[in-house]
Amino acid sequence: MTNHFLHITDLTADEIWDIFRLAEKTKARFKEREDYRPFHGFTLAMIFAKPSARTRISFETGFHRLGGHALYLGPNDIGIGKREAVKDIAQVVSRFNDIIMARLFDHQHVLELAEHASVPVVNGLTDYNHPCQIMADMFTIHERRGHLDDLKIAYIGDGNNVVHSWLRLAARLSFSFAMACPEGYLPDQATLELARESGLSEIILTHDPVAAVEGADVVYTDVWASMGQKEEAAARRARFRGFQVTEALVAVTGRETWFMHCLPAERGIEVTDEVMDAPYSIVFDQAENRMHVQNAIMLRLLGKE
Ligand code: CP
Ligand code: NVA
Repeated sequence: MTNHFLHITDLTADEIWDIFRLAEKTKARFKEREDYRPFHGFTLAMIFAKPSARTRISFETGFHRLGGHALYLGPNDIGIGKREAVKDIAQVVSRFNDIIMARLFDHQHVLELAEHASVPVVNGLTDYNHPCQIMADMFTIHERRGHLDDLKIAYIGDGNNVVHSWLRLAARLSFSFAMACPEGYLPDQATLELARESGLSEIILTHDPVAAVEGADVVYTDVWASMGQKEEAAARRARFRGFQVTEALVAVTGRETWFMHCLPAERGIEVTDEVMDAPYSIVFDQAENRMHVQNAIMLRLLGKE
């Protein structure tokens, strides 16, 4: 495994499966409240340039429960890339802390942070990707189904950071990924090519949500305006009309389907309340599994298991 976790493609397929197995083990230990403290004496610096609920709570709680201490550094604390150069922060934080988690706007900044840090860096979301989320999502799907055979995921919405991580996962594990978005909201072309060129997964792009969800095991969505795009929210709502995940759309799959969303959701916008609260909605399992998968990633990065 590399020294950092910045993209899902930083891992081989074997390493992804290894992390899933370790996450299952650490989740069981967590549930049993086993006294397991591999991070005793270790500190995690969490750098947030954007808001967060799940990422902060899961990293902070997870690191603490495994015996370590996590520091929250919010948008007004560091001013990464503004108040101070990224490479200087990388070196300063590395002198104090054993591992860094960063949620930043500019993806280049997380790459630069990793280049200059002497401790492992974990990407907690950038404008480009969200690898911890999609690792937790696939772990959740595997937990539900017991396998990933003949898996079809339908993603309805914006070709954003979450999609880029799905595409990178599609370059490591085999599944079918069908995405429906309005014209002009496709994911990054190079990332699409990376997924397609791996030859492992089927990647379907359409502008028709009904065509995307046919035969899907999972219907997934995310907000139409991501962090940093909120001033575009009204215009995007108009462009994405017809792309809301409704019970009628989920019924098109014609099979037992799970609804997934990385959260936070804008209820009534990209997804209805009925779908969010349906028995087939596993959005809170996804949120819970963030912690266990991230713990497994950090255990591997710190050579603790
Ligand atoms: N899914 C996710 O990363 O949530 P937060 O933005 O609340 O951390
Ligand atoms: N695409 C969303 C994901 C939030 C977890 C955003 O970047 O705001």
